[in-house]
Amino acid sequence: MTENIYSSAAFSLKTRGQKKASPAQPQAPLANDTYRTTASTPKPPARPDPYALVAPQLKELRETLLNLLGSSHPSLTEIAKYYFLHPSKQLRPLLVLLFSQATNGLGSGWYLKKWAAECEGAGGRAEELDRPLTRADVLNDWNPNMPDHTASFQSSFTLRSPRPPHQPPLPPPFPPALHVPTVASPLALLPTQVRLAQIVEMIHVASLLHDDVIDKSPLRRGAASAPAAFGNKLSVLAGDFLLGRTSAALSRLGENEVVELIASVIANLVEGEILQLKSVHADELGIPGLSPKVGQDNWNIYLQKTYLKTASLMAKGARAAVVLGGCKEGEVWKEVAYAYGRNLGIAFQLVDDILDYEAGDATLGKPGGADLQLGLATGPALFAWEEHPEMGPLIKRKFEQPGDVELARDLVRRSSGVERTRELARAHAEKAREVLGVLPDSEAKGALEVLTERVVKRTS
Ligand code: FPP
Ligand code: MG
Repeated sequence: MTENIYSSAAFSLKTRGQKKASPAQPQAPLANDTYRTTASTPKPPARPDPYALVAPQLKELRETLLNLLGSSHPSLTEIAKYYFLHPSKQLRPLLVLLFSQATNGLGSGWYLKKWAAECEGAGGRAEELDRPLTRADVLNDWNPNMPDHTASFQSSFTLRSPRPPHQPPLPPPFPPALHVPTVASPLALLPTQVRLAQIVEMIHVASLLHDDVIDKSPLRRGAASAPAAFGNKLSVLAGDFLLGRTSAALSRLGENEVVELIASVIANLVEGEILQLKSVHADELGIPGLSPKVGQDNWNIYLQKTYLKTASLMAKGARAAVVLGGCKEGEVWKEVAYAYGRNLGIAFQLVDDILDYEAGDATLGKPGGADLQLGLATGPALFAWEEHPEMGPLIKRKFEQPGDVELARDLVRRSSGVERTRELARAHAEKAREVLGVLPDSEAKGALEVLTERVVKRTS
């Protein structure tokens, strides 16, 4: 494989003005050098199953998420909820929950965040986050959490007296004189972080609703896809509706940095999809094509697309979780979260691309070779090209002539493309595991380590 911007070195932990952290000897991110003490806790805890560690929280967040999706139109509500009714891996919420647990207590703003989650009126309690997402006296809106007395459209809207301004309680004096970064024990999750886990899943599902229209997918997770069940127009609108709900829920978290991070993920998803479309459909879309040169350009585009479409949500979602836990600028924990999520996300997608070459299973909703059918050359085909030059013309004409898809699959089978793609995935997963070395030991950290192995070994 030729040298490229992403794969030559899996994204490693870099912090502004800080030394690179190594797993064996954690480097202190803070002037007072305090986290060394907690990072060298003598007895490492067992490595728990990632899903088992937060199983009740995952179950609850999946159920309560549906409360965010009520709309004034029952069929819109039905489509918006559709993909949440079929079981998913919930990998993105899992990552948010585990990173929250692994880092809560470490950031110098933790005590303030914890106080906000416990103090009525401070904006961080579960009940406060659950209040209706729109005000009944401002918009004629409806969701299941909302009171009935919405303004009618039968008469013109009259001037209402403003609500008395909300006076948030004053926080106790912070920060403590010397903040000692220690993982909260027992492991803690804030209501804002649980809501963030729901938000990342909603954004993922919104992107799938759009993706299934673009890819013309008949199936998703073994059932009819939303476009197959409800049509293209309603699927796109339901995706947009989900984004509207996530925007309101995001702002309710009260943390601008998190709003910016997650908003940029939405832009990244679209950019990734456009990059992919351009590489296949430039001519018919009337946009300039990429006209890749052999080798490096293909790899760069492929890995950039992989980051934008898959890893960005994991990297920035994990980072946002750490920000919600009170990590401030200049503290290393945010960087750990981003580096971990980015490498894990790329590894996850590389394995996804391998699975696409394996025998099709209709019950998974993804027949083998779907990427080739869409004209996409992913890791296995790009590696195979290095061993079989006849792959080049097939890639360039997007596998569109009769027999191209079968020939490409055969070339991949007769090459080391799949093994080399798995090797690349393993390198990214290993880098994700390595950056965790900076974190103090905890069960959540152990679960995040296990996740890096699972991602490479997964078969579905
Ligand atoms: C699945 O890819 C799709 C994505 C990971 C992202 C798709 C993004 C968009 C359509 C842009 C619009 C985004 C939003 C937020 C509205 P895949 O086709 O490789 O995987 P699949 O086999 O699961 O369909
Ligand atoms: Mg698709």
